[in-house]
Parts: sequence; structure tokens; C-alpha cells
Amino acid sequence: MEEIQQIASILATALHGNRPSNIMIFGKTGTGKTASVKFLGKELQRVDQNLQNVRFIYMNCEVVDTQYGVLQNIGNQIIINFEQRIPFTGWSTERVYNILMNKMDEEDKVFIIVLDEIDKLFYKSGDDVLYHLTKMNDDLRRSKLSVIGISNDLKFTEFMDPRVRSRLGEEKMVFPPYNAEQLRDILAQRAELAFEPGALEESVIPLCAALSAQEMGDARRALDLLRISAEIAERNGDDRVTEAHVLKAKNKIELDAISEAVRTLPTQSKLVLFSIINNDDKGNRYMTTGDVYSEYKQLAEAAGVSILTQRRITDLISEMDMLGIIHARVKSFGRGGRTKEIELSVPKMETKQILEDDEELRPLKNYRPATQTTLI
Ligand SMILES: Nc1ncnc2c1ncn2[C@@H]1O[C@H](COP(=O)(O)OP(=O)(O)OP(=O)(O)O)[C@@H](O)[C@H]1O
Ligand SMILES: [Mg+2]
Repeated sequence: MEEIQQIASILATALHGNRPSNIMIFGKTGTGKTASVKFLGKELQRVDQNLQNVRFIYMNCEVVDTQYGVLQNIGNQIIINFEQRIPFTGWSTERVYNILMNKMDEEDKVFIIVLDEIDKLFYKSGDDVLYHLTKMNDDLRRSKLSVIGISNDLKFTEFMDPRVRSRLGEEKMVFPPYNAEQLRDILAQRAELAFEPGALEESVIPLCAALSAQEMGDARRALDLLRISAEIAERNGDDRVTEAHVLKAKNKIELDAISEAVRTLPTQSKLVLFSIINNDDKGNRYMTTGDVYSEYKQLAEAAGVSILTQRRITDLISEMDMLGIIHARVKSFGRGGRTKEIELSVPKMETKQILEDDEELRPLKNYRPATQTTLI
């Protein structure tokens, strides 16, 4: 992969005791950011075995998300002597910072510190620690320090102090989504480890790769698709994984994602979704906000929850549109009048089932939608 080469050539200078540029790596989920950087870290340490010029320090900022936590984590990856370790709490940030500086300088090495999911750290704790880390290099006399930040959020740096942003982003890189061919290689490599020869029908890997490339080019999803296909085959007692299993697996993954999205909606949104389904049941496939609202009011009353204004319901409809649960488009009619045309974009029966099983909507258990009003 081109990106791995690029990062490798930046990091290689560390082998000669020089400081590599800081790097910000961006890219959508499953594009191999974490896997590539970890791989390069291992390679670097392998090549550096004799020279011992480089220390590679990795942490995931979803877990380590405070200034103190980051400094403590770095410190304890460097300090081997247990008695000298930095405690989890209790010391002032300044004290940890100073100890860390001294320890690092004693080592006389190039430190490469990887902050994976760096956006989580930033949103939780601001950019103080990033400011200090990127500035630390100026204060070190013998050692050198460079930071690699990894994120699947391209936007978060906009909110950062411009100085920190420019220091961190000395080099910037974007990992593109994988294409079908690359996914095929990744899957084949994994399959060799995970399956007996002949356990997969020949077209299984190309199909998994093609389906995943069409979606997001996400290697994690491609690997999940293959794994779930195999689980389905095994559960069926079939001794080979076939295309049919892959298609079933794809269906299952999609349904799981939908039910997760529906299950985690706020109660009011669930009611709105229920009204959309009821409208659809009445043969009203493309409905207006007004249609949804009048059904919603009855449901909210039956469920014993407060009835929101039509304005709020319009907002909830937009939210569900963004989640991909429904599809709403603005339609104009006559003299500049506009309304929304709303349509369900998830499978109706399954979604209805999820809502009917929902604890929060239990009062609606025996609710029957009023039949369509007829004009006399
Ligand atoms: N080039 C590759 N070769 C082999 N496996 C890979 C490759 N790229 C990704 N994978 C595998 O795909 C999965 C997802 O990759 P990875 O965790 O690196 O994604 P990511 O870009 O860090 O995603 P996120 O932004 O969600 O953290 C992992 O199981 C990883 O091992
Ligand atoms: Mg990652």
C-alpha cells in the first residue's frame, strides 16, 4: 500500500537517530490505519534491534483519554522499574511531565508516540496534552519525540488551537477506502489462517470483497462478512461456505444494524417511526409530515407520553432521515408551498416487530390504528 510506504519512509529517519516529522493520519473506519501503524512499529523495532535508537509507544485514546492518562501511559511504557512507576492518580500534571521529560532524555532515543483515535482525546480533554507533547521536543536535550495521530474524523482538527494543529500535521495522510482487489487480498490472507483448504467455495472471497467494496471499502466489515458467512454455514451443518451463505450473512448484518439503530432511538422517535409504519400499512407509502403527525398524536396519547409539537416532530423526522431509517425529500406543490414526502427505508415487517417488542412502547401493545377516514 502506498500509504504504508510513505509513513515508512518518514519513520525510517528515526533509525539514524533523527526526529521524524509528526504525522496526522486520517481515513474512514476499516481502512487499515491502526493495522498499518502497528505493523510499521513492529518493523521499526525489528530493524532497530541492534541499534536501539527508537522507542515506539502506542496507545488508544478511546481508553486513554485524559492529559494525565496519556503522560502516565507514556511514562510507564518507558519506566521498567516498578517502584518508579507513575501512579494512576495523585501527582500533579507538572510533576508527571517533568519526570517524563527526564526519563526520556536519559534514554537518548527517538520516541515515536502513536495516539490512535486522537479525536476522542481531543473531544474529552482538549488540546493541552497535544500542545505539551508536540512542544516537548524543543525541551529535550538528547532524546527526540515525534507524534503520530490517527483519526477517522476529518473535522476535529478545525476546533484545535492552530499552533497545535500545524505542529501535529507536519505530514498529513489520508487512507482511502479499500477497493475490491485489495479486500480480496486481505480476506485471502486471513482465510488462509482461519480456514481449512477447500472450506470456502472459490467465489466466496471475491463476493465478500465486492460487496464490501461497494459499501465502504471497510476491511473490518469485509472480514466480519466472511466470518458470519462461515458461522451460518456451520450452524446449518454445511461443510463448505457458499455464495448463498454470504448473501444470508450480508442480510443478517444489515438487519442487525437496522435493529440496533431502531432500538437505540429515543422513545418519541420510535413513536414517529411507528406512525410512519402505520401510514404505510394504510397504503400511504409516500406521506407528508402532516400525515405522520396526526398518526403520531394518537400513538403518543395511547402510549401515555407527552405530545410534541409538529415542529419537533419535523426535527425528529430529519434525524431519522440522517440515520438512514427513513427517506424524506422536500416536495413543492402549487405556489411555493412545500412539504416533505416521507418514505420508510428499512424493511417494514422487521422494523415493526422490533417496535412491537420494545419495552418502552409496551402500552401500545393492543393499539390498533384508526382506519382511514372516509369522506362522506
Ligand atoms: N492491509 C491489511 N492487511 C490485513 N488486514 C488488514 C489490512 N487493513 C486492515 N486490516 C484488518 O481490517 C480490520 C480493520 O483495520 P484497522 O483496525 O486497521 O482499521 P482502522 O482504519 O484503524 O479503522 P478505525 O478508524 O475504525 O479504527 C482489522 O482487523 C485489520 O487487521
Ligand atoms: Mg483504528
